[in-house]
Amino acid sequence: MQSSNTKTKSPQGHPSGDKRFKSLDLTIKRNSYRQDALIEILHHAQEKFGYLEEDILIYIARTLKLPLSKVYGVATFYHLFSLKPSGVHTCVVCLGTACYVKGGKDILGNLESKLGIHVGETTDDGQISLLTARCIGACGIAPAVVFDGQVSGQQTSESVEERIKHWELEVRS
Ligand code: FES
Repeated sequence: MQSSNTKTKSPQGHPSGDKRFKSLDLTIKRNSYRQDALIEILHHAQEKFGYLEEDILIYIARTLKLPLSKVYGVATFYHLFSLKPSGVHTCVVCLGTACYVKGGKDILGNLESKLGIHVGETTDDGQISLLTARCIGACGIAPAVVFDGQVSGQQTSESVEERIKHWELEVRS
């Protein structure tokens, strides 16, 4: 039996205000906070974020009241989960329906050809990892791209290229 001060309340979202955590909360709620739904929840998180960084794993562990070691264990056991892109910078192109129809696919195609890599890969110099996600909760500003964790809306192939160039210039300076 749970004591009265054992919290079973809904998660409050992430302090960062990142809307993707809200979507993650919904998935967790839909699964009734069941610990045995961990794999499904990790799947959803990876679809949203492109990869599972530590912050996300901690959030899931806390919400499901699971030891972090257990969540890490599952996330590292399955090859389909990617824990951290190896590049210094991370570019996640949203390919959810709204972004896809508004040009997300073209943005991705352009990036792949400019960077000479495919989704899930990192440039040879170790600078940029390219990932995709499904609906990151910013459909109103589609097409959206997440640069190092920051969501940017109304992107075009050109604006994304500009951003990437910025990163490249940082390396040279
Ligand atoms: S489809 Fe890209 S933010 Fe919703």
